[in-house]
Amino acid sequence: MTAATAAAQGRGQGRAPAPPAGPWMDKSLAPDRRADMVIEQMTLDEKIQLVHGGQAGRGQVSPSNGGAGWIPGIPRLGIPDINMADSAVGVTRGAAMGRYSTLLPSTLAGACSWDLKAAYRYGTVIGRELRDQGYNMSIGGGVNLTREPRNGRNFEYNGEDPILAGSMVGQLMKGVQSQQIMGDIKHYALNDQETGRNIGNAILDERSMRETDLLAFEIGLRDSQAAGVMCSYNKIDGDWACENEFTLSKVLKRAFGFQGWVMSDWGGTHSTTKAALAGLDQEMPGSTYFGEHLKQAVESGEVPAARLNEMVHRILRSMFAVGVIDNPPRRRVPDVFQGLADAQYLAEQSLVLLKNANAELPLAASVKSIAVIGSHADVGVLSGGGSAQVDPPGGNAAPPPPAPADAGRGRGGFGGGRSGVYFPDSPLLAIRAKVPNAKVTYDSGSDPAAAAALAKASEVAIVFVNQPMSEGRDAASLALPENQDALVEAVAAANPRTLVVLETGGPVTMPWVDRVRAVLAAFYPGVRGAEAIANILFGDVNPSGKLAVTFPKSDVDLPHPQIAGMNPPPAEPVSPTPAPTPQQPGQPAPGRGRGGVPFDVRYTEGLKVGYKWYDAENKEPLFPFGLGLSYTTYAYSALKASPDGNGLTVTFTVRNTGKRAGSEVAEVYVSLPAAAAEPPKRLVGWEKVPLAPGEARNVTIHVEPLYLSVFSEQRDSWQVPAGDYQVMAGASSRSLPLKATVRMAGN
Ligand code: BGC
Repeated sequence: MTAATAAAQGRGQGRAPAPPAGPWMDKSLAPDRRADMVIEQMTLDEKIQLVHGGQAGRGQVSPSNGGAGWIPGIPRLGIPDINMADSAVGVTRGAAMGRYSTLLPSTLAGACSWDLKAAYRYGTVIGRELRDQGYNMSIGGGVNLTREPRNGRNFEYNGEDPILAGSMVGQLMKGVQSQQIMGDIKHYALNDQETGRNIGNAILDERSMRETDLLAFEIGLRDSQAAGVMCSYNKIDGDWACENEFTLSKVLKRAFGFQGWVMSDWGGTHSTTKAALAGLDQEMPGSTYFGEHLKQAVESGEVPAARLNEMVHRILRSMFAVGVIDNPPRRRVPDVFQGLADAQYLAEQSLVLLKNANAELPLAASVKSIAVIGSHADVGVLSGGGSAQVDPPGGNAAPPPPAPADAGRGRGGFGGGRSGVYFPDSPLLAIRAKVPNAKVTYDSGSDPAAAAALAKASEVAIVFVNQPMSEGRDAASLALPENQDALVEAVAAANPRTLVVLETGGPVTMPWVDRVRAVLAAFYPGVRGAEAIANILFGDVNPSGKLAVTFPKSDVDLPHPQIAGMNPPPAEPVSPTPAPTPQQPGQPAPGRGRGGVPFDVRYTEGLKVGYKWYDAENKEPLFPFGLGLSYTTYAYSALKASPDGNGLTVTFTVRNTGKRAGSEVAEVYVSLPAAAAEPPKRLVGWEKVPLAPGEARNVTIHVEPLYLSVFSEQRDSWQVPAGDYQVMAGASSRSLPLKATVRMAGN
């Protein structure tokens, strides 16, 4: 019996320990001090108990709260259990416990709002509903950069730009923690594809790592002070991410100054001593390495007792800092109505209008007939699969499609990597509600000829297309699955007034784009997605989202036209397999889902992630990063940029030159001096500016030194290169009418 199971026995589910009189309960003391006071009282077994996941013993009912992770607390010291729930886009696995939770738009959609306040609100919904359901920790917070636009999990991440993604996840996690629920940011690091996620070895030079994927974590952690970081399944430059001294200790703990704790992704721990010394603080779930084996290693001195104390300190100080000890969650029915309002608001801030030829949108209320086609738009909106899957109220609104045969290898995991869960929120009904006197007819789209016939007989055709994505597998290509391109072509040929609504995990290709009038990217729009889509289609909401990811023209334009490790095997050479990790006697072989031949994922594009690749390679994207249309128009003028002693101050004016109120995301990019050898430009700031018709506002953006820096491997620090910087402002990464040059002294 492990210490954890022993502790678990006889304790009721979710029982809050009676607060003891210990001096560490004094809220006026600093969290670090309080943690140390508790540690002084703890036995070795109690310390070991906190650094691995609990499991109910054979024949026992688990006293956990039913989430993905549970760490039994120490009632005699007033330390509650840690109950973790996956909650990337809403609290998951509610159904097993008879709970309801709000499905928000995908976090990628949320990132397309470019709205830090909206991201915070997103986090408060998750934090609030975790509290309501008896959890005290979120293990959402995905911020892996979209290096690979076919990655099955992009929908639960925040796009391709490290400053945007890091800022958005930072606010999101700050929102979670505002509810006194611990937050977490994951998957650290370079877990940028699902194909072979348990066997792939990510290779990227240090400078590129620090300036891209790791920068997103750095910003997210700085802004949120999140309690946890989840290390990922993959290897990084030969070492497993959960026993990687460089990424965990050197970068995360020392360079970023991260004060919380590192937990392994589920089953991502590979050793005891190596992992403990490299910086892993908690094995999740179970006790294969950080149970008895860690105890023995501490007793023998192989792992210093001080290191175990540090692991425990990091956990306890986070619990005190966030408030889960002082203000434990209390169960109540989630505020379903508030959740619906939040979900709809967030969708309306996030959906991106990509094309609107002939000002086809917004649709007039006088429209007489509309054909609504495809994607089960009669009954629901699509959601993302895997551990982020929120349970649809009443079950899947549509029959799930079979898992694709060509999917990339990963761990089957939740739902066996299946996806295709529709939430019962009908776009058809939402559209009908807008035009009660029009004839609005649905066709499933399964027969393109039948769909085309309906489109021909209708004034307007709206085709909903979908790309179901999930943890555990990547899309083999950016093409829409299941013949949907042919469906759009057939409908567009039958009716020139064809509009397309995308329900996708991320970017997809659109060979038909020139033959349709409008394209609205709804991503996975959440439980009120249908209402948000209808509000945008009919102009009750003026779209204001902008792309947080580039939509490429074709797979051939990607840095890696073929996903590493996906059949056929990678063309790139595999580096020599490093010596196996030394393991203590009696340790089991690596766990589930790690089969297959290891391979390298060489991120040869380096710094050139997303739009930086298309800029550097002179490739024209289908829709560029930062693009998003509106029903009004905006003009930019009067750019000024000057060093302010601490970075740059950039000012300019944005005017609404149209007839509708709207919000414009004004974007600022810089080109660094040529000697810095950076990609052509990088996003360094933005603001979402609400503007009445005719209104102009002056926008002031402070660009901090970090955002102007390059990472110097020689100096092992960030450096602002001296020289001329070009500052650009405008509406997207490819529409930057304002330019100014500013000289920086450098550091
Ligand atoms: C996923 C994590 C998740 C964990 C627990 C893993 O397979 O990669 O993102 O938090 O499972 O459900």
